[in-house]
Amino acid sequence: MVRLYKIIRFLIKRKFFYFVRNSWPVWFFILNREGRRKYKKAPPSLGAVEKRIVADLKTYGIATSSLEELFPGKNLFPELLEYAIPLKEEARVKSKKVFLKNLFDLRPLLDFSNPYVKFALNEKVLNIISSYLKLYPKFRGYTLNVTTPMETGSVPIDSQRWHRDPEDKIVVKMFLYLTDVDRGSGPFTYVKGSHHLGKYWNLFPTAPPAGSYPPAEEVSKKIEVSDVLVCTGKAGTIIFCETSGLHKGGFATENERLMSTSIYATKAVMSPMALTILDDLDAKKLKLPAVVEYALS
Ligand SMILES: [Fe+2]
Repeated sequence: MVRLYKIIRFLIKRKFFYFVRNSWPVWFFILNREGRRKYKKAPPSLGAVEKRIVADLKTYGIATSSLEELFPGKNLFPELLEYAIPLKEEARVKSKKVFLKNLFDLRPLLDFSNPYVKFALNEKVLNIISSYLKLYPKFRGYTLNVTTPMETGSVPIDSQRWHRDPEDKIVVKMFLYLTDVDRGSGPFTYVKGSHHLGKYWNLFPTAPPAGSYPPAEEVSKKIEVSDVLVCTGKAGTIIFCETSGLHKGGFATENERLMSTSIYATKAVMSPMALTILDDLDAKKLKLPAVVEYALS
């Protein structure tokens, strides 16, 4: 009886702790005061494309673009694809997500000769994310995965199911398709308006530090079909998304999908993510823009 009482008391305390920690005033004004001040001191300047992406993120929680639209004339796609091709031969399952073959280590080094690192830490990208969050974000990791088609009769598992990412109050990811993605390739799928500014924010909330994995039938009962965005797209498609909103993906039935993911959160992140920053990496020596330097600090 005493033990049960202790367990209940512990659970109540923990719930209260996360409730306070994730309340907007504590999360935004206290835990993220440094990133917020830096943003206020040096707010990023955005071009028309970046402004449109930020506006879409605010409205829907998701915005799509492409390498060509965001980086016109830079021709980034061939370099990114060429870097991936030899790694793809060696790719294997490295996590519980058995449907994903990882091209990078789960705790990859922050290697600036890797074009995916340069892409993830591009100033334009960080300017978009900081403008959306109204604070300077933290870079939390990057992956490059092949999604392999599931066997007939398989049911969605893990992140193939609807869920909200749990690592921070707001997590933002940038996805890049390296192959054409159709409905048979496990496209990224999102409930528009399930982000922190949207009408579905309180639907199936996370129970920090855990995420939320509501049953598909419950989700379809509570949301309008027109709010489900299935992100099919050509190779070179970029998706910015607040993944604290409801999303799923990677349930391929016919074709492989090669996709990179860049992960951003804030200083208030609750659990460490996969990233090994080299001990001798001195961001100051690299003369990185302030928003990039902060993302790595
Ligand atoms: Fe996720």
